[in-house]
Amino acid sequence: MSHADDHSSATRRDFLYYATAGAGVVVAGAAVWPLVNQMNPSADVLALASVPVDVSGLEPGTQITAMWLGKPVFLRRRTEEEIAAAQDVDVSSLPDPLANNENLDANIAADDGNRSLANFEGENSGEWLVMMGVCTHLGCVPLGDGAGDFGGWFCPCHGSHYDTSGRIRRGPAPRNLPVPPAQFTDPTTILLG
Ligand code: FES
Repeated sequence: MSHADDHSSATRRDFLYYATAGAGVVVAGAAVWPLVNQMNPSADVLALASVPVDVSGLEPGTQITAMWLGKPVFLRRRTEEEIAAAQDVDVSSLPDPLANNENLDANIAADDGNRSLANFEGENSGEWLVMMGVCTHLGCVPLGDGAGDFGGWFCPCHGSHYDTSGRIRRGPAPRNLPVPPAQFTDPTTILLG
């Protein structure tokens, strides 16, 4: 097979991968979300600028995926081990040293405490992590629940590994998974937007 044929078949494979993924359903962030699906949120989706999410059913070590402005958002209640792993990182060594948290100043560092969400009482133990489920490379939905080499999320499209704080650690993605506007409005409800 010539190099050109090889490239062509690789492109076809990529296309089939995306097309097949597009026929799937987003279940707990486990499906690949093709870029095209994010480009034209319908008017009713755009109208939902604020979305309350009930997190009362989340046990430590589990997550749910909500939709906000037509995009998936991961809401995870982390375990002590996940929090400890996220805190035990030299932030200056990260590919993206910024928190990428819309609730904080744009230049604030990517310490785990600058990415996790305070509870209704205003305490931030690191238990709650809310972030966009959109890979910062080309927009696929990363796999979760301890996926990848850093125990967090893994984007299979081109191999980006995110840690338990959603920070990019290896692969082509340039930025940490963005933290959207979010806050607890009662002890079991997180408002997105
Ligand atoms: S879209 Fe995630 S690694 Fe390329």
